[in-house]
Amino acid sequence: MQELLNKIAAELALETERGKVADYIPQLAHVDPSQFAISLATVDGQRFSAGCATTPFSIQSISKVFTLTIALGKWGDGLWSRVGREPSGDPFNSIVQLEHEGGKPRNPFINAGAIAIVDAIMMGHEPKETLAEILSFVRYIADDNSICFDHQVAASEMQHKDRNASLAHFMKAFGRLRHDVDKVLGTYFHQCAIAMSCEQLAHAGLFLASDGVNQPSDLRVVSPQRARRINSLMMMCGHYDASGEFAFRVGLPGKSGVGGGILAIAPGRGSLAVWSPGLDKYGNSLLGTRALEMFVQHTGWSVF
Ligand code: DON
Repeated sequence: MQELLNKIAAELALETERGKVADYIPQLAHVDPSQFAISLATVDGQRFSAGCATTPFSIQSISKVFTLTIALGKWGDGLWSRVGREPSGDPFNSIVQLEHEGGKPRNPFINAGAIAIVDAIMMGHEPKETLAEILSFVRYIADDNSICFDHQVAASEMQHKDRNASLAHFMKAFGRLRHDVDKVLGTYFHQCAIAMSCEQLAHAGLFLASDGVNQPSDLRVVSPQRARRINSLMMMCGHYDASGEFAFRVGLPGKSGVGGGILAIAPGRGSLAVWSPGLDKYGNSLLGTRALEMFVQHTGWSVF
């Protein structure tokens, strides 16, 4: 396995077409696009990495997997009255469906859906308290208390919040958000600004690969059924309007972020994290997707 990861990293290091780093969050525009990392954490406790796998990066929308897990813990199936579970087929920051669908976001992974999920987690608490809860959950599943928010990224996103603020106000106008819009947005931006390395992220995803059981504590995070359902949402909606393409090429539940990371789950086998900051036109990591495609071609780990 180590040889395979080394081979993928070596091959992609030669690639000159690396995609475009996200610049609508100015702080992300400074990230060096030549970086690449891949990590695998297996359900039987093995760890493999290649590239700069201990370098923290902004996990951005990958955090939506973790907040969805927390929200399901609080609301159970009641959550589905606030957010749908169908692919949107539209870009991650699109507003168009909200108008025709009563302000209810299609799924928890588009921006509108993730904002609604944060609102569901807050339950009358202040942003600070909600963020402490999110961070301690992420630290627990990654088994690493050094994980932190990148406050500069959060501030940068806050300064350029117009698009997300529009989504939030629009949902609020439909009575879909219960808390103050600015507090919800501040919480959402910090959640997206969690910084993690590929090693930490692969570890954090392990519970989804092992029927909901945390590693190495062996404590249950979610039921096997909930783990399967979160994986199904990642498969159908985790790459927005390129979710079909990702399923076609990689065949694993996956969640991307505009920081260039992707978390992919091979149920029963392991959790994979890749990072390459350059994005394709859908906002998903160009070489990260290629790396996962190469990995699955060699291992046959596609769920199909
Ligand atoms: O709200 C945003 O636009 C970002 N914080 C997250 C978007 C994102 O990561 C989309 N992923 N590919």
